[in-house]
Amino acid sequence: MDFHYIEDIVKLEGERTTIKGWLQNKSSKGKIQFLWIRDGTGIIQGVMVKGEVSDEVFELYDQLTQESSLEVTGIVRKDQRAPGGYELNLSDVKIVQIAQDYPITPKSHGSTFLFDHRHLYLRSKRPRAVLKVRDELIWAIRSYFYKNNFVLIDTPILTGAVGETTTTLFETEYLNEGTAYLAQTGQLYLEAAIASFGKVFCFGPTFRAEKSKTRRHLTEFWMVEAEEAFYDNEENMDLQEDLVVYFVDWILEKCQKELKELERDISALEKVQKPFPRISYDEAVEKLQKAGSDIQWGSDFGGTDETILTKMFERPVFVYDYPKVCRAFYMKPHPEREGVVLCADLLAPEGYGEIIGGSQRNDDYESLKKRIEEENLPKDAYRWYLDLRKYGSVPHSGFGLGVERTVVWICGLSHIRESIPFPRTIYRLYP
Ligand code: 4AD
Ligand code: MG
Repeated sequence: MDFHYIEDIVKLEGERTTIKGWLQNKSSKGKIQFLWIRDGTGIIQGVMVKGEVSDEVFELYDQLTQESSLEVTGIVRKDQRAPGGYELNLSDVKIVQIAQDYPITPKSHGSTFLFDHRHLYLRSKRPRAVLKVRDELIWAIRSYFYKNNFVLIDTPILTGAVGETTTTLFETEYLNEGTAYLAQTGQLYLEAAIASFGKVFCFGPTFRAEKSKTRRHLTEFWMVEAEEAFYDNEENMDLQEDLVVYFVDWILEKCQKELKELERDISALEKVQKPFPRISYDEAVEKLQKAGSDIQWGSDFGGTDETILTKMFERPVFVYDYPKVCRAFYMKPHPEREGVVLCADLLAPEGYGEIIGGSQRNDDYESLKKRIEEENLPKDAYRWYLDLRKYGSVPHSGFGLGVERTVVWICGLSHIRESIPFPRTIYRLYP
């Protein structure tokens, strides 16, 4: 390779090297010109002094526009004043391409404009910080499951059965087999894999035709789901708690720079310690009503309810045992309470709300079959799923964590569209 990355610059002090990247900004003080170059691993200040480079190179300065691509060569020097602590004392500059009128100038732009230019906006500081946190979050989650002997099971995206709810399905024609749905969840398939591996997880894109415009919903998002044989709802919550503490620690260790860029209040994240409070749905409704919400027993929490509720806690909070009417068909009925199912949502503090949905699964053949009928789901498509209740059915539980919701919370974002490289929402399929 005939160049180095800025991240390795520390090792190159005093040496001549070439950096290849994009011009983020420039300034001139007559005989000294500064070029700020970004290469994806960092930013470096290039210093061009008249007389130290050829006149032709010195004069290139005027042509260099924001986001032009270039190769610069120079000697690496330590300098306290330079961003990153090092600068390049330039001896040569080669233009790769001159950028014409880059639309995202250093002045401020509205969010619609920025997201219409998401393909370029990705280069800006803020999205770079968020997407770096996202990357680390995903590594942390995978690392957690690997360390705890969960086996990765890749579940299908094209499915024949409804995973969650009929109201948000994306449908597509599937050759000669009728209608296929884009996966809303990988859970049902994970349930098949527990009898093979005990503890499994999947990590993939999921799709929901969310027809309302909110700051919490995407139509395409990434979900990590775990499924564990012989775990009950309590043990399932213990596992989630352990996972969340693990990745928050990981992010706090690895993403200080990014969190600072995002002006995230780190102390709020440092409070994410075990144990997380656990309150029943009934208690949650009571708390909400006292706080002025008009929620009635039997309905799911809206975004506003979650905001009110989670502002009452400094740690993520579990709300368990919801009414059956507002939960999916596969959840296990509460053994003592009619109309209640064994499940839990994990709500992130500071008003952020649901990041995980989980439950103990209905492991009884007859009762599950009845639920599928009650919900008017096509029985035939669930034959294989019901089979799992015939051949060595066991108590089991699992959960799904939305990556974007989690990024929103960790980074302290106000809208989910910032948490994914190319957001898909009710009104956005471009770029
Ligand atoms: O609560 P949900 O719907 O649960 C399931 O899909 C279960 N099958 C999971 C399981 O038990 N294996 O979704 C899980 C999480 C939510 O808590 C939320 O974080 C995220 O997925 N999520 C969304 N994120 C962005 N946009 C949407 N439209 C989302 N819908 C759910
Ligand atoms: Mg949910």
